[in-house]
Amino acid sequence: MNVKNLCLAVVGFALVGLTACTSKNDKCCQNEVNPIEVAVPERPAGQQDVIQLTTPKLDTVRVGFVGLGMRGPGAVARWTHIPGTKIVALCDVEPDRVAKANEILVKAGLPKAAEYSGSTEVYKELCDRDDIDIVYIATDWIHHAPIAIYAMEKGKHAAIEVPAATSLQECWDLINTSERTRKHCMMLENCVYDFFELTTLNMAQKGLFGDILHVEGAYIHNLSDFWGDYWKNWRLDFNRKHKGDVYPTHGFGPACQLLNIHRGDRLKTLVAMESNPATGPELVKKYSNEDGSDFKNGDHTMTIMRTEKGKTILIEHDVMNPRPYSRMYQLTGTKGFANKYPVEQYCFMPEQVDDKVVPNHENLSAHSAVPVAVKEAMMQEYKHPIHQEIEEIAKQVGGHGGMDYVMDYRLVYCLRNGLPLDMDVYDLAEWCCVGELGAISIENGSAPVAVPDFTRGAWNKVDGYHHQFVK
Ligand SMILES: NC(=O)c1ccc[n+]([C@@H]2O[C@H](COP(=O)([O-])OP(=O)(O)OC[C@H]3O[C@@H](n4cnc5c(N)ncnc54)[C@H](O)[C@@H]3O)[C@@H](O)[C@H]2O)c1
Repeated sequence: MNVKNLCLAVVGFALVGLTACTSKNDKCCQNEVNPIEVAVPERPAGQQDVIQLTTPKLDTVRVGFVGLGMRGPGAVARWTHIPGTKIVALCDVEPDRVAKANEILVKAGLPKAAEYSGSTEVYKELCDRDDIDIVYIATDWIHHAPIAIYAMEKGKHAAIEVPAATSLQECWDLINTSERTRKHCMMLENCVYDFFELTTLNMAQKGLFGDILHVEGAYIHNLSDFWGDYWKNWRLDFNRKHKGDVYPTHGFGPACQLLNIHRGDRLKTLVAMESNPATGPELVKKYSNEDGSDFKNGDHTMTIMRTEKGKTILIEHDVMNPRPYSRMYQLTGTKGFANKYPVEQYCFMPEQVDDKVVPNHENLSAHSAVPVAVKEAMMQEYKHPIHQEIEEIAKQVGGHGGMDYVMDYRLVYCLRNGLPLDMDVYDLAEWCCVGELGAISIENGSAPVAVPDFTRGAWNKVDGYHHQFVK
């Protein structure tokens, strides 16, 4: 029985578990609802977790790119600026996209890369080469996991655009392949490297917010300028066929890093709710001339989670309707608060702010945001070591203001120095599982659903989330 069938079997069982409970003084106070549980496949014999996985240092990181649509060529261009790399091969179904990406290399004064095109299976020839260390995947979502799995089987590390997995089955397949082959499998979540996010994470790790209790994230991005440009309409098709938050990772990744997920805490339960699909069906009529009444994805989806240690997370998704872009990024702690969208703000208990950084810190209050000048002084003071090192070049090279370069740079830095990567395959699974688990919740009246422990018992092995550096 596959995971999907198994979990459907458990749904029936879990719903039977809804029972009335009686409090000590016999007054009926609440109903106890057992969360729906999905299957956790046993770790195959002889296989170990890949927590803090390290692999031999690479002097030069040799890369092959697969998927050269709107996103992929930007990655090719960024890698031309990263020291210690060699772009060996380029692949896309469409030959003209490969040729165009090769022009980026020529303009950068680099030799042309080998070209692969013509089918959705041609990536296998790229992965079969023996002169590539990592396969960088920026195709549509349904091709991510199969390409990454094939790449790891052929001895390559895999770096996969977001969301790297579209189902629980794909999460487990990627985990099992990474554990068995001992190859890195990293999701290319760029937003964890943005300037406000990384600075705020640094503040959090230094205790400025006290105990972080609640975090919010979102992907609110009206995609009307893009719907017509996705290859074979893949993105709208996916939304049409799936419920749940299908693009959670930009908001959720930074939240999980703040809460040390699988580094001392773990995701435990999730509930999800969605609005009706309203704009979605109209888009189907517009872009495929079909009746969109079968459209599954609600225009606005909310997913709420609780962790083992009692922290809460809210993630929202709307790519359909008019709204200013927002990834939300908001945290509430016992000593402070941070918010990125629509305006960057911090609020602190006055004693949290060092008077060397902000002279009149006693004038700060716990019920209003610190003035802009204080915010700027604090952000300067708590600039993350990664940004201290490469902020300037990152902003010059660009990619969403620089965060994309920071992401690629860190991937290469860790591979060249034999360090654990900033994000592992369990991050990938945790940040992507929200889609199918949310769909299960929605399809069962927003019932709670247990989040599987993708580390299969290793979530408490590491104490706190930390980037690795050469000592
Ligand atoms: N992290 C970010 O900020 C960010 C931004 C944009 C897109 N993305 C992600 O990047 C990925 C690509 O998005 P896009 O906007 O470029 O889509 P796109 O439709 O423009 O490009 C997808 C490309 O993949 C190619 N492709 C599909 N299947 C393939 C296969 N089997 N082998 C080789 N090539 C294949 C297509 O020919 C197409 O050129 C998606 O996963 C998306 O979510 C991430």
